[in-house]
Amino acid sequence: MEYRPLGRSGTMVSELCLGCMTFGRELDDKGSKELIDRFIDAGGNFLDTADVYSQGSSEEITGKSVQQKRDDLVIATKVRFPMGDGLNDVGISRKHIMAGAEASLRRLGTDYIDLYQVHCWDAITPLEETLSALTDLVRQGKVRYIGISNFSGWQIMKAMSVSRSHGFESFVSLQPQYSLVERNLEYELVPVCLDQGIGILPWGPLGGGFVSGKYRKGEQPPQDSRIAGASSDMEESWERRANERNWEIIDVLGSISEETGKSYSQVALNWLLNKPGVTSPILGARKLEQLEDNLGASGWRIDDKQMQQLDEISQPPPLYPYSFIANAQRG
Ligand SMILES: NC(=O)c1ccc[n+]([C@@H]2O[C@H](COP(=O)([O-])OP(=O)(O)OC[C@H]3O[C@@H](n4cnc5c(N)ncnc54)[C@H](OP(=O)(O)O)[C@@H]3O)[C@@H](O)[C@H]2O)c1
Repeated sequence: MEYRPLGRSGTMVSELCLGCMTFGRELDDKGSKELIDRFIDAGGNFLDTADVYSQGSSEEITGKSVQQKRDDLVIATKVRFPMGDGLNDVGISRKHIMAGAEASLRRLGTDYIDLYQVHCWDAITPLEETLSALTDLVRQGKVRYIGISNFSGWQIMKAMSVSRSHGFESFVSLQPQYSLVERNLEYELVPVCLDQGIGILPWGPLGGGFVSGKYRKGEQPPQDSRIAGASSDMEESWERRANERNWEIIDVLGSISEETGKSYSQVALNWLLNKPGVTSPILGARKLEQLEDNLGASGWRIDDKQMQQLDEISQPPPLYPYSFIANAQRG
């Protein structure tokens, strides 16, 4: 396992992060702990959960599973989505952030959160309020760093400016959806992260499992897979994933898998590890064998030609104004 700084911070994290979204959902306490133990055994020190994952169970299981090793780990969690029926049990107001942080600390069984992330943009709360509340949590010693997820480019840049002008803490990381089948963040989010020194933590790095090699053109998805159960409005739904372009990506992945002797998932994750701005893709797994497979993404590199083949086949279409600006570059 290799280690990278978490954005523009001095804290080092493993280049693979363990996602805890399946804990308390597809995995019980025992199965989740097995995953965590194996991940730590492989050198991983970075875990990502959220209050909303299984309505708190994921945080509880994660906390219980790491008690003896807590200080060696970098634990990330999130706040924003509803945690109750109350009018203010949602969002990134000062009220909900403060209540959310206390509840997450309790469930995780720890007295600090390493990375506290806003799970998604909230159109109601002024950024000044959110950043002031997050800064207070850092000053109180309850949070070490702050991050964001599912923000657009202008929202990130506005937040960075608000932090600077008010002396608030700045976001060190962005958690966006990023995989060979979802590269739209490259238009705006990757450039702003590179410019601002924000580390990218890709979620859905296998497209919900689509690029793992177990799906085939013309066949129905395996019944017990996440994609088979995803409704059509979900990011990883079969309707969104099973299209001509994505089957071409799978074909190229297959040939690189043969050339390298690595699995589809290992090649797809390795491609992400090589992309500019990426700190740590967040691994999703619902069984130990999947985690084992995915951990094999570390410790080797696909070559430049293979990188280029994958870049070309999965290239997002030109989009104004980015294409216009790229064509107008001088020198
Ligand atoms: N910030 C956000 O909004 C957000 C959103 C989603 C996730 N996340 C974070 O990102 C983490 C990872 O996201 P994700 O779960 O969507 O990642 P993903 O890697 O794209 O999908 C994971 C799923 O793919 C399948 N899979 C994984 N490895 C496999 C392998 N080697 N072979 C075959 N199938 C495999 C499994 O589902 P099946 O076995 O059911 O096919 C697994 O649950 C989450 O745990 C969470 O921490 C954040």
